Amino acid sequence: MSLRLATLTDAAELSRLHSASFEDGWSEADFRTWLSRTEGFAVVACRAVSSREWEAVAFGLGLAAGDDAELLTIATDQGRRRAGLGRRIFGALDREAASRGLKRWVLEVARNNLPAIGLYKSSGFVEISVRKAYYPQGGGRVDALVLSRTVGLAGGQVGA
Ligand SMILES: CC(C)(COP(=O)(O)OP(=O)(O)OC[C@H]1O[C@@H](n2cnc3c(N)ncnc32)[C@H](O)[C@@H]1OP(=O)(O)O)[C@@H](O)C(=O)NCCC(=O)NCCS
Repeated sequence: MSLRLATLTDAAELSRLHSASFEDGWSEADFRTWLSRTEGFAVVACRAVSSREWEAVAFGLGLAAGDDAELLTIATDQGRRRAGLGRRIFGALDREAASRGLKRWVLEVARNNLPAIGLYKSSGFVEISVRKAYYPQGGGRVDALVLSRTVGLAGGQVGA
C-alpha cells in the first residue's frame, strides 16, 4: 500500500470511495473542484491491482482556511477498515498541513459516528463545541461534534 498526495487525476477514484461511504457522495467534479484549489490538499492510499493498474483504498481531504486545516472528509474502503489506514492517511495529511504552515486542525463529525470519533480522539483531537441537529440523518437530525487538534502534535498517533 502506498500513500501519496492526490492530484486531479485521482478525482474519479476519490469520488468512488466517498460515494461508497456516504449517502450524499461527492462527484468526480466536486473532487476536481476541491483539488483545483490551492487551499485543498488530499492524500490517497493506493493498491496495485496489476503492473499497470491501481485502485484507491483510502483517502482524506483537507482545506487550508487561514491558519486552520479543516478536515473535510476521510474514508477507508469498507473491506479494509480497522487496519490502520485511516490513521496513516491522517498522519500524511498532518505532515502536509505542517509543511503549509497551518497551526490547528478543525473538523465536524456526527455524534453517532463512533469509528470516526475513535480515530480522531486516538489521534489527539478534543471536542471544542457542538452544533445541534447539524446533519440530516434517517429522517431526523443528529448533532455535530466540532473537534480540534494542533497540527504536528508531538506525541499524537500520527505515524505513517
Ligand atoms: C472513520 C474511518 C475513516 C476510519 O478508518 P480506518 O482505516 O478503519 O481507521 P484505522 O484502522 O486507522 O483506525 C484508527 C483508530 O480509529 C478508531 N476506530 C476505527 N474504527 C473504529 C470502530 N469501528 N470503532 C471504534 N473505534 C474505531 C480506533 O481508535 C482505531 O485504532 P485501533 O484500531 O488501534 O483501536 C472509517 O471507519 C470510514 O471510512 N468510515 C466511513 C466514512 C466516515 O465516516 N468518515 C469520517 C467522516 S467525519
